[in-house]
Amino acid sequence: MNFDSSSARSPQTDGGMQYHIRCKPGDLAKYVLMPGDPERVPLIGKNWDEYKEVAFNREYRSAVGIYKGVNISACSTGIGGPSTEIAFVELSRVGCDTFIRVGSTGAIQPEIECGDMIINTGAVRLDGSSDLYVRKEYPAVASYEVTMALIEACENLEKRYFLGISACSASFYAGQSRLSLGDYWQSSFDTNFEDLVKMGVTNYEMETATLFVLASLSKFRAGSICGVIGNRITDEWSTEGFEEDVSRVACEAVGILSSWDKLKARTGKRYVFPGMFAGD
Ligand code: URA
Repeated sequence: MNFDSSSARSPQTDGGMQYHIRCKPGDLAKYVLMPGDPERVPLIGKNWDEYKEVAFNREYRSAVGIYKGVNISACSTGIGGPSTEIAFVELSRVGCDTFIRVGSTGAIQPEIECGDMIINTGAVRLDGSSDLYVRKEYPAVASYEVTMALIEACENLEKRYFLGISACSASFYAGQSRLSLGDYWQSSFDTNFEDLVKMGVTNYEMETATLFVLASLSKFRAGSICGVIGNRITDEWSTEGFEEDVSRVACEAVGILSSWDKLKARTGKRYVFPGMFAGD
């Protein structure tokens, strides 16, 4: 694809084809699941009744399909805030408005085990990228509707889950208090970790804060669910089955959100609220 005649300030073609994700308006559904790993896109698609890969450029693999009658998409983000920013900006330009991160995470509370799910309601903004959009006091918060749909999906699928605030780090090693460069260590690596645990922060991951801040600024909905693959207190590490589990839950949440969106449209309401389901 040739982008040479497009503007450097906003690299996209006249038809709206985006430079990194190589999708254009109409290619994807408004509900988009966002795993980090491109390999997880077809895995997510195994839950769908229809699956079509749309594009695969660098870390951005995107697909569109149908899950329980609902148009659904997935696009991988790669790892960390910078690549998540690119994915979010370009996905929002092609018509996506409801974003669900489908990730992996390391728990930092002792009761959370490998194989559990963590639904993040907010994130400590250690991602770096969101600082380039807003001041530090601005919160990284999830859409309550997406969060509720993720909770209901975990309940329906009988998955053990926790709600909490992530520490969204710009680094997997030093930023998450892991050994990295030989025995190089700063005292802050210890205190940062201990303080987050004391604050009741549930987990480390690397994309949620960027996603939540950009979604809030765009007035779009975003949520985040991660499968726990490690626990930094108990020093457990196990990735077994987490990708299938977290993918299934996220797809189910899209089905639930879509039914709520239809109910809102029928009743002329802007927001979902518990009493709304009474007569449903
Ligand atoms: N992702 C992270 O960022 N940290 C972990 O410990 C596991 C997954």
